Amino acid sequence: MKIEGLIYLRGDKSISHRALFFGALIKHTSIIKNISLCNDVTATINALRQCNINIKIKNNIVEILGGTLKSPNSFLNMHNSGTTARLMLGLMAGQNIRAKFVGDNSLSLRPMGRILKPLTNAGANIISNDSFLPIEILSGITKSIVLKEKTKSAQVKSSLILAALGQKEKSKICYNKFTRNHSEIFLDYLGYNVLEGDAIVAHNIQFNQGFNISIPGDISNAAFIIAAVILIPGSSITITNLLNNNLRNGFINLIKEMGAYIHIKNSSLKYGEQVCDLYAEYSPNLKNINLTGDKVITAIDEIPILAILATQAKGTMVIDDAKELRMKETDRIRAIFYNLNNMQANVRETDSGIVIKGGNKLYNTIINDFGDHRIAMAFYILDLLLNNETINKKLEIANVSFPEFHQTLKEVVV
Ligand code: S3P
Repeated sequence: MKIEGLIYLRGDKSISHRALFFGALIKHTSIIKNISLCNDVTATINALRQCNINIKIKNNIVEILGGTLKSPNSFLNMHNSGTTARLMLGLMAGQNIRAKFVGDNSLSLRPMGRILKPLTNAGANIISNDSFLPIEILSGITKSIVLKEKTKSAQVKSSLILAALGQKEKSKICYNKFTRNHSEIFLDYLGYNVLEGDAIVAHNIQFNQGFNISIPGDISNAAFIIAAVILIPGSSITITNLLNNNLRNGFINLIKEMGAYIHIKNSSLKYGEQVCDLYAEYSPNLKNINLTGDKVITAIDEIPILAILATQAKGTMVIDDAKELRMKETDRIRAIFYNLNNMQANVRETDSGIVIKGGNKLYNTIINDFGDHRIAMAFYILDLLLNNETINKKLEIANVSFPEFHQTLKEVVV
C-alpha cells in the first residue's frame, strides 16, 4: 500500500467561516466558491440563516445576501465549533442583536471569557454560565473596543474585528503577530485596510458591493494527507490550489526542517491569499526538532499530526509553550499522551507541551479520540502506517472539519 496522485481540497475552514461572516454584513450578494461544508462551517451557515441572512448553496458554491441581521426566534446552536461561537458573538454584539448561544458538551467547556470581557468592557450586556456557554447577548457594544493586551488567539482578534465593524467609533485591537490574519486580508481585499502599526483599528464602514471569491484548499486538512505520504514508503502526492499563508504554514516549515521532501510550486496571490501547488514524497530520514515559542501559533491545529510524525523520526521532539492545546476540542496534550503512551511510544506530558522520542516500536491499541476530530484523524494516519486495513474504516468525526477525509484517502491509496 502506498499513496499516489493529484488532489484538490475543499476550501480552508478558517477562511470559509470568515467569508460567511463578512458576507453577512454586506448589503449586496456575494459569491463564495469552494467553501468547506464541514460541520463547523455548517454551524455558521445555520446560525446566520436563523438570524435572517439569506444563504443559498449549490455544489459548494454559496450565494449570500447580508446586511439583514435580526434576532433569532430560538437559541443558536454552535455545536462543536469554537470559531462559530466566538466570531458569531462578536458579530452579534457589534450589531446589537439579542441572541442566546449554546454548544455541544466539548464547546461548553471551552473558555469564552476571552471574548466576553472585551465586549462587556465596550458596553455589551451579556450573561453567561461563568464565562462558558450557554451565553445570552441582551444588548450589544455601545462604544469602541480597546484590547491592549496582545491576544494570541485569531478567534478573539476576528471576533473583535467583527464587533468593531458595528461601531461608529474606532476600536483598537492589539494582537500577537503570529495569529492567523485571514480577517485582515479579507477586509483589505474588500478595500478596507485595518492595519495600523502593531494594532488593528476598525470601525463601521459601508461596503458598496459584494465579493466573488474562491477559497483555496485547507492546509490543516492537507497536513494529514502530507503526513501519510511522508511516512508510507513509495508515496508521493501533488495538492493543487492549496492555501500557503505564511501564518498557517508552520507545519510545512517544520516538517521541511525535519527532512521531509516538500516542493512548493506555482505560488500566486488569489483574493489576497497566497496559494500554491505542493508536492510531497516519502521521506525516510526524518529527524525531530523542537517546537516552542510563537512558532506554536502557526502550527497550533497541526500538533496532533506532528506528534505522530515525531514517533517515526530520529531524536526527540520537544513541544512547549502550547498550553492553549489544553483548551481545544479536548485537552489535546492529554489526548496525544494517552494514546501514544498506550501504544508504548516514548512520550512525556508536560504542563505546557509534550516530549516525544521517536523510534520506539508502536503497538496497535484502541484509540480514544476524546471526541476530537483532529486527534481521530491523526491517529487514523498512524494506524494506516501500522495496519493497512484502516482505509476501510470510515471516520464519522472527520465531518467536523474534513468531511472528504476518507474519500480523499480512498482516491489516493493504491
Ligand atoms: C482559528 C484559530 C485557532 C485555531 C482554530 C481556528 C480561526 O484558534 O485553533 O482551529 O479560524 O481563527 P485560536 O484563535 O483560539 O488559537
